[in-house]
Amino acid sequence: MAGNWSARTQLVHGGARRSQYGETSEAIFLTQGFVYPDAATAEARFIQAGPDEFIYARYGNPTVRMFEERMAQLEGAEDAFATASGMAAVHAALFSQLKAGDHVVAARALFGSCLFICETLLPRFGIEVSFVDGTDLAQWQAALRPGTRAVFLESMSNPTLEIIDIAAVSALAHAVGAVVIADNVFPTPVFQRCLALGADVVIYSATKHIDGQGRCLGGVVLGRRDFVRGPLETFLKHTGGALSPFNAWVMLKGLETLDLRCRAQAATAQTLAERLQGHPALARVIYPGLPDHPQAALARRQMQTGGTMLAFELKGGKPAAFRFLDALELVLISNNLGDAKSLVTHPATTTHQRLTAEQRTALGIGDGLVRLSIGLEDPDDLFTDIVRALVE
Ligand SMILES: Cc1ncc(COP(=O)(O)O)c(C=O)c1O
Repeated sequence: MAGNWSARTQLVHGGARRSQYGETSEAIFLTQGFVYPDAATAEARFIQAGPDEFIYARYGNPTVRMFEERMAQLEGAEDAFATASGMAAVHAALFSQLKAGDHVVAARALFGSCLFICETLLPRFGIEVSFVDGTDLAQWQAALRPGTRAVFLESMSNPTLEIIDIAAVSALAHAVGAVVIADNVFPTPVFQRCLALGADVVIYSATKHIDGQGRCLGGVVLGRRDFVRGPLETFLKHTGGALSPFNAWVMLKGLETLDLRCRAQAATAQTLAERLQGHPALARVIYPGLPDHPQAALARRQMQTGGTMLAFELKGGKPAAFRFLDALELVLISNNLGDAKSLVTHPATTTHQRLTAEQRTALGIGDGLVRLSIGLEDPDDLFTDIVRALVE
C-alpha cells in the first residue's frame, strides 16, 4: 500500500490485494494449489516465484500473504510467515535456526507448551537450554556466553505479568552474537513493538487478540527478510505448519479492529485494577499499569499501558479462588485469553498444573492466584460481577 500510513490505517488496509472483481472485503482464496498457463511458467515459478505468484498453499497463498503483509507493516518487520497456531510459530522460530551443540538462554516464566519445547524438546536434539529469571539482567548476563545462539522469552509473563526489558536483554544477547526471539502475545502488537526495541524475531499466537473473538487458531513469525524467506520459510514449507487461508481471512478481519479492541480492553483492565486494589478479599492485585507493579516504570516506557490482562491473589487460597470462579456470572471460566469476552482462569490447577509446587512458588503462582483476560464488556458490569463473586 502506498503512503506512510499510521498503524490504525495499516490495520484496515495493509497488505490488501484485490482480484479482477475489485472486492471491498479481502477475498478468501480457499485453494490448495495454483494452475499455470503452460509448462514453462510452472518451471519458472519453481525456480523463483514472484510476489504475486503462488505454487502450493503449504508454501503460500494470497489470503495468507495479505495477513503476513499486514502484520509485517504493523510490527515494522521486513517480512512475516504465518503459521497454523502460535505454537507452530514458536516451534518454527526455534527449530529453523538451531542445531545440535547450540546453547539457548530462556526466561523461566513460560507458557506450558513453550516450556515443553525449551525444557524437553530442544535438549532431546542436543541443544542446551539455560533458564533465567527474565526480569533479572544479572542472570541474563551470567547465562549468556560465546556460543549462545538464541534467547527465547515471553515479553510479559503468564500469569504473573512480569515484564522483560527487551532493549536491555537484546543488547546483552547481541554482545555474544545471540538472536533474540520474543513471544509478544500478552502485550499485543498494539502496545509493544519488540523489533523496534531490539529483538530479532517476534512471534504471535494470532489465536489471541489478533482474532480477538475466539474463533480460529493461528500464528505468525516476523523478522528480517533473509531469515523469514530463508531458513524459516524452508523449515515451514517442508514441515507443514502453514496457516489455513480461511483462518488467515478471519485474522485479517480481526486486525481491522485490533487497535480499538486492545485499547478498550486495556482501559477497562486499568479501571478494574484500580477499583479492586485494597479489596478485603484480595492479598494483591497484579497489573503493570498500577504504580505498585515491580516494573511499572518499564511498562510505561515499553508498553505505554498496562495491557489487557489482570491477575489477583485471593486471601483464602484455592477454596476461595474456586468459590470466586464458580460465583462469576459474566466472566467465563476459560484458559484462553485476548477474547472479546472476559475470561478467568486458575493457573495453579490448569495452565500451570504440570509444574511442581516448587516451580509454581518460584514463579509466584500461588493457590489463590487467578488471571483475568479483560474483554469488551461494560467496565461497570465487569466490576459488579467480580465484586459480587468476591464476597459470596
Ligand atoms: C504466551 C503464549 N505463547 C504461545 C501460545 C500458543 O498459542 P496457540 O494456542 O495459538 O498455539 C500461547 C497460548 O496460550 C500463549 O499464551
